[in-house]
Amino acid sequence: MHILTIIGARPQIIKAAALSRAIHQSFTGQIRETIVHTGQHYDAAMSQVFFDELGIPRPHYNLGVGSGPHGRQTARMIEGLENVLITEQPDCLVLYGDTNSTLAGAIAAAKMHIPIAHIEAGLRSFNKSMPEEINRIMCDHASTLLFSPTATGFANLLREGFDAGARPPFNIDNPRIYHCGDVMYDNSLYFAERAEQKSRILEKVGLVSGDYLLSTIHRDNNTDDPLRLNAIFAAIDEFSRRRKLQVVMPLHPRTAKLLDKNLSQQLLTSINSNPLVKIIPPVSFLEMTRLEKNARLILTDSGGVQKEAYFFEKPCVIARFETEWTEITSAGAGIIADADLKRLVAALEMFYDNPPTHYPPVFGDGKAAHFICEEILKLGNNKNSRQNSQKPVGKESAMEKTPENDTAGNPEGNTIQMNDAFRMTDDKLQSE
Ligand code: UD1
Ligand code: UDP
Repeated sequence: MHILTIIGARPQIIKAAALSRAIHQSFTGQIRETIVHTGQHYDAAMSQVFFDELGIPRPHYNLGVGSGPHGRQTARMIEGLENVLITEQPDCLVLYGDTNSTLAGAIAAAKMHIPIAHIEAGLRSFNKSMPEEINRIMCDHASTLLFSPTATGFANLLREGFDAGARPPFNIDNPRIYHCGDVMYDNSLYFAERAEQKSRILEKVGLVSGDYLLSTIHRDNNTDDPLRLNAIFAAIDEFSRRRKLQVVMPLHPRTAKLLDKNLSQQLLTSINSNPLVKIIPPVSFLEMTRLEKNARLILTDSGGVQKEAYFFEKPCVIARFETEWTEITSAGAGIIADADLKRLVAALEMFYDNPPTHYPPVFGDGKAAHFICEEILKLGNNKNSRQNSQKPVGKESAMEKTPENDTAGNPEGNTIQMNDAFRMTDDKLQSE
């Protein structure tokens, strides 16, 4: 089975590490992975560092697309990816999350009738002004295998008309949906100990374990709107001074480039003169994991950091007006505070005095990537996943019927398989 994995932005590189590791550990000889980097993120601290640290194979292709307006960036990716798909003729395309790299992969593969496995399917903010919301909806509806990390994501897919009882052969018109846990949880479990041993980030920055606020901010609606960016930084400055609490902010380059332009002079001066606030460049995954594990509080607008806060049982203030990860807020471990100075400070104060104690295990069992590999392999045995398709350009179809992959009537393929850990939840969902 030949899969082609598309990565481009930081969180996708990190997520891809989980699948590459599972392939390396359990599926060599069965799954061959070709990795394509779109080049959406290109600074060493946003890309290369993760390959070095997480043991991800070097990308076979880098399209070098770089930054730009959404249309141009996505179009260049589609063009580059189409060429790679023509050359590689994969059996399945693996896409992560909701970035422009995800969208480009979905369009390129769907038009070439290549089945798509979407990891992190079903997540919705119900806010279509977010570029990510458009990307994830489009990708889900072009996919054949949809792997939702949470019960909420799975329920969203049901609401959009996906059929939990679909039977093989699966294809774009008859997709299969799963609730299978989160590959990011796999990663955090796997790397937590290593982060403690290898990262010296607390010592480098001068942080006291258990006694600082970790914050990341990068969403375009926060960085590009001076009112919102000022409110977030004012909240951080005010809270750290009042509680005499250190703050560490590994800053995404998007945010770093906009501080001078979008923060008021008065706030910039106040932040710069606040000895408790340490603004640092983006850190590696092991460094970030150690920062998360030892934080007292986390304030973020990042999807991934919200989840990692939860994995490490840290209270999380969310600088957005909604979250896709509603399990976190339902458990009382996260508070949505928008980019509103008063709400942000109130939420930080609340969590500082009354940290949550309840973190139900809603992100799986740490083996999501293994499960996903197993299911992708079954697709390889599914002779009709390019049903209704023309032959791919340039080569004979990789999906021609062969004695090995002709599994019509395969009893295993006819059951609805959920990761055991989630069977109850999903059965319940389906009966509602
Ligand atoms: C992208 C994703 C977002 C994800 C985030 C993860 C989209 C639409 N957005 O947002 O969903 O949460 O990645 O981090 O795909 N830049 C650099 N160096 C880099 C990369 C970016 O300086 O290596 C700067 C450039 O000025 C660029 C800006 O950051 O214009 C934004 O980068 P871009 O990839 O377009 O979007 P992100 O904000 O990173
Ligand atoms: N991350 C990192 N270094 C940093 C900031 C974040 O390694 O300086 C990791 C973080 O641990 C998580 C992922 O990047 O695994 C989240 O990515 P990001 O916040 O860029 O995007 P989002 O998850 O919001 O799409």
